[in-house]
Amino acid sequence: MNAPLTSSETAGLARDAAGALLAADGRPVADDFPILARPVRKRRLAYLDNGATTQKPRVVIQALDRFYEQSNANIHRGVHWLSQHATDLYEEARESVRGLLNAPDSQHVIFTRGTTESINLVAQTWGQGLRAGDEILVTGMEHHSNIVPWQLLCARTGAVLRHARITDTGELDLADFKAQLNARTRLVGVAHVSNALGTVNPVAELVRLAHEAGALALVDGAQAVAHAPVDVQALDCDFYAFSGHKIYGPTGIGALYVRGAILKDLPPWQGGGDMIRTVSFDGSTWAEGPQRFEAGTPNIAGSVALGAAIDYVRGIGLDRIAAHEAALLAQATEVMQAIPGVRLIGTAAHKAGILSFLVDGIHPHDLGTILDTEGVAIRAGHHCAMPLMSHFGIPGTARASFALYNDLRDVDALAAGVRKAQKLFGV
Ligand code: ALA
Repeated sequence: MNAPLTSSETAGLARDAAGALLAADGRPVADDFPILARPVRKRRLAYLDNGATTQKPRVVIQALDRFYEQSNANIHRGVHWLSQHATDLYEEARESVRGLLNAPDSQHVIFTRGTTESINLVAQTWGQGLRAGDEILVTGMEHHSNIVPWQLLCARTGAVLRHARITDTGELDLADFKAQLNARTRLVGVAHVSNALGTVNPVAELVRLAHEAGALALVDGAQAVAHAPVDVQALDCDFYAFSGHKIYGPTGIGALYVRGAILKDLPPWQGGGDMIRTVSFDGSTWAEGPQRFEAGTPNIAGSVALGAAIDYVRGIGLDRIAAHEAALLAQATEVMQAIPGVRLIGTAAHKAGILSFLVDGIHPHDLGTILDTEGVAIRAGHHCAMPLMSHFGIPGTARASFALYNDLRDVDALAAGVRKAQKLFGV
């Protein structure tokens, strides 16, 4: 996701006449997702709420089942075979995350509940070193999970949260970002992809600028990892957070990559079993590596199933997924722009597969409800990005967000649903 896709990158895609992405054996990849075969409101389901959560392929559902049927035991504690087996599976999943992000070492990957917990972890561990007057810089397009943890941290420490402006096309105002960076900036937090607009931020450049100013850089990758290749070494970021459920894995599991040199000195944030080396009433010492941040019994089955999801996605190929979703976005943008009364919100030059829009005379929630009657699932509202909505002077948008199993029938259903809503509302 470091550069916009070119038409030559999209040309070699294996897609059928409906624009569905095909697996190596020629079947649509959508066949791997049982839920997509169920009708919703007696219609073919056009699931376009992938920014909120993705559906799960059979291999992920089976990995969960298989874990509980064949491998369930607690990890890192038992001397018995099943415990060692479960530990091996858990650590293999950590290796899958490492591979997804191209992290140098799986010991730089911490399992969390998801992006929100990952960012809170950074705020509560690394943030312990913050002092009054220090600054955190985010952008005006951040999800609440990359704003509120910093506000809580600032309230505790006297540090200051700043944000860089957004342009009217929904891009980061780079000049403002540079102007706000200064010697007091301790950390820059930026979305790789805006969940509300689809804008792809120039993350490598922002990380470079942060480092030049002496700050660390955290990337919220929630909307990125399932949609294009990510390489934390190429980005050179210090923290990279993502959620498993947005990359076809289960809910309640995600990860945080931390640069090794930073991780080794980070204090713990939650105390309990598994995160210690020794405990006595005179004091305790901490485990090395990611275990220091994984107190208590973690989501073992979720981690294993996340590993299966990552293997599935990488098997299809993130370059192909990116190209497929770019083609869907291009088609959806063209079709929706051609409907009188539709206004796109977020028209950045470099976007991932998210289309936010308003329809004159129809509240986004009403539009979402009418689309639902047609079997089209979208999200309507502020998308947990209220400051961004305020910037545009709107309460919210309707948002269609694409995934690898969507095709042109979904785009057609979206456009037909919008036209139907316009007819019903007489606009
Ligand atoms: N952050 C998720 C979204 O954008 C829930 O829909």
